[in-house]
Amino acid sequence: MKYRELIAAAYEARKASYSPYSGYRVGAALLCADGKIYTGCNIENAAYTPTVCAERTAFFKAVSEGVRNFEAIAIVGSPAGEPVQFAWPCGVCRQVMMEFCDPKQFIVIVAKSEEEYEQRTLKELLPQGFGPENLGGAERS
Ligand code: THU
Repeated sequence: MKYRELIAAAYEARKASYSPYSGYRVGAALLCADGKIYTGCNIENAAYTPTVCAERTAFFKAVSEGVRNFEAIAIVGSPAGEPVQFAWPCGVCRQVMMEFCDPKQFIVIVAKSEEEYEQRTLKELLPQGFGPENLGGAERS
């Protein structure tokens, strides 16, 4: 099955979730165009707002290493000790995906197991989104 390895990597990443305040543990695995996988977990903070989601951790790890071409992300999340549920990404993470991915091509996978998952394009999750294209010729580096 196509996304087995990616989902397994998201499960593995969830083990590192630092979520003492919400108790909601999330793992994500980001598939790059070259086949490499970057993983992330959610990292909470006593001041609450510095908390970062698993998806953004994975994206920022990849982008900070010069990688900007992405195909798909698998996400697994649930309260500690409970089986994972379909954990669709929050709006802020959808917006970060929009920055680096073609919304018609990029696939978001939410999984309950390596066999049971759902997938949507970013376009389906963020229709009429605002992205780099809206800024026209603005300089990007
Ligand atoms: N969280 C994620 O990691 N990804 C999401 O898309 C939604 C929420 C985390 C943030 C916080 O640590 C916990 O889940 C509860 O909101």
